[in-house]
Amino acid sequence: MLSLTLTGLKLENPLMLAAGIMGTTGGSLKRIAECGAGAVVTKSIGLEPKSGHSNPSMVEVDCGFLNAMGLPNPSYKNFQDEIDTARKGSVPVIASIFGGFADEFSEIAKALDADAFELNVSCPHAHGYGTDIGTDPELVEDITHAVKKAISAPVWVKLTPNVTDIKSTGLAAQRGGADAVVAINTVRGMAIDIETGCPILGNRFGGLSGRAIKPVAIKCVFDLYEVLDIPVIGVGGISDWRDAVEFIMAGARAVQIGSAVGENINIFQDISPCMEAFMAEKQWTLDDIYGMAHEV
Ligand code: FUM
Repeated sequence: MLSLTLTGLKLENPLMLAAGIMGTTGGSLKRIAECGAGAVVTKSIGLEPKSGHSNPSMVEVDCGFLNAMGLPNPSYKNFQDEIDTARKGSVPVIASIFGGFADEFSEIAKALDADAFELNVSCPHAHGYGTDIGTDPELVEDITHAVKKAISAPVWVKLTPNVTDIKSTGLAAQRGGADAVVAINTVRGMAIDIETGCPILGNRFGGLSGRAIKPVAIKCVFDLYEVLDIPVIGVGGISDWRDAVEFIMAGARAVQIGSAVGENINIFQDISPCMEAFMAEKQWTLDDIYGMAHEV
């Protein structure tokens, strides 16, 4: 009842692991697959090994988490084995990749063998990467186009909410040939320790994830659904089955779950039967609820 085909990939359910959580090793990705995710997305991988920002790089706030990891990763040159191990979990494995230029993105995508690629043009706190390029529609289009030209696997583009109008970057990704967009990455934020007056994160500011950003993400998905012909994958603050249904009603074909996995690794297998029971009671299919909020 929950299975679907998304950009040519067969998923048992529309619930995926989001980039950045449990995605650095093949073993952890495989574990999440075995816990019921329909697909898993790796941690963002770049050209060269990168240690990331200094600690603290993550802090819990009232309404979620602030992180400024700074894209730590072992480089694509040391990552294929992890993808291969993750694939033993028998669900599609999507490689999240980042670069500063179109050539860097395509070099990495060409070198890795994954079921799809998610282009991170939306990390809000890594100088020269993420939002530094992903807020410019022309760059988003060029990068997407370069990767599409370089590989045959599906290309998803993860968008930032830290723009005036996410529709323009979504449309740019579509013009570049993206097979789907993913909305949203974290919302730029900051926390200050009032005892010392110091910013808490090593990088001073970071990206907010968790429950607080769900309404922001829902609005972005709703807006993108209205203008795009390609699927939108929703992410941001999903912590139970109702949230997942809400995203699909806003126009998401599938959803990703990040922060909530930290609290409950079994969240995928908890959500699926509840969604199924709800839809059975309403006599709705996934197709029925897809974009339902646009019909009123
Ligand atoms: O620093 C990080 O790895 C976070 C990436 C992101 O927010 O996209």
